[in-house]
Amino acid sequence: MKMISLLLLILSSCLCATFVVNVTQSSYEAEENHSITLEWTFTTEPDSCLSFEFMIFTLITENKKVSVLFHEHGGVEVSQSQDKQFAGRVQSDKELLKDGRIKLHVSKLRINDSGLYLCEIQTDCGYGSAACQLIV
Ligand SMILES: *[C@@H]1O[C@H](CO)[C@@H](O)[C@H](O)[C@H]1NC(C)=O
Ligand SMILES: *[C@@H]1O[C@H](CO)[C@@H](O)[C@H](O)[C@H]1NC(C)=O
Ligand SMILES: *[C@@H]1O[C@H](CO)[C@@H](O)[C@H](O)[C@H]1NC(C)=O
Repeated sequence: MKMISLLLLILSSCLCATFVVNVTQSSYEAEENHSITLEWTFTTEPDSCLSFEFMIFTLITENKKVSVLFHEHGGVEVSQSQDKQFAGRVQSDKELLKDGRIKLHVSKLRINDSGLYLCEIQTDCGYGSAACQLIV
């Protein structure tokens, strides 16, 4: 009996660990050649769960083309993953990570940067993703 309740305790504590990614704005509009800052938020339970295994931001265009804007693995940026389309145009702001926020700044916007921007994060406590729309 003790064994079973201990097992249940372990199981339920694992199930309680959650990680949810969300957007602060579901849609953005910007002019060609201007810049934009896209923002995502995340909540973790327990809040000590801030060790990111990976973080990847991709653009999915209307004709289903997928391009990587930013990729980080174990806290290290993997610049070779980045699509040429975004070379030198993307900056991430991770100062805000402890507040549960992440910002991505994209400059010199082109019309073909329009589409769905997807943020995917894998942590010790689970996986979360959320997307917002950008119209240039
Ligand atoms: C995401 O954020 C919006 C607005 O801040 C809120 O209405 C919505 O419930 C949130 N969704 C989730 C899954 O937390
Ligand atoms: C954006 O910049 C390009 C190259 O500098 C220029 O040809 C184009 O007219 C600009 N577009 C707008 C809307 O200002
Ligand atoms: C997007 O548009 C720019 C010019 O505005 C062009 O140089 C580039 O090749 C285009 N990229 C794609 C993937 O179509």
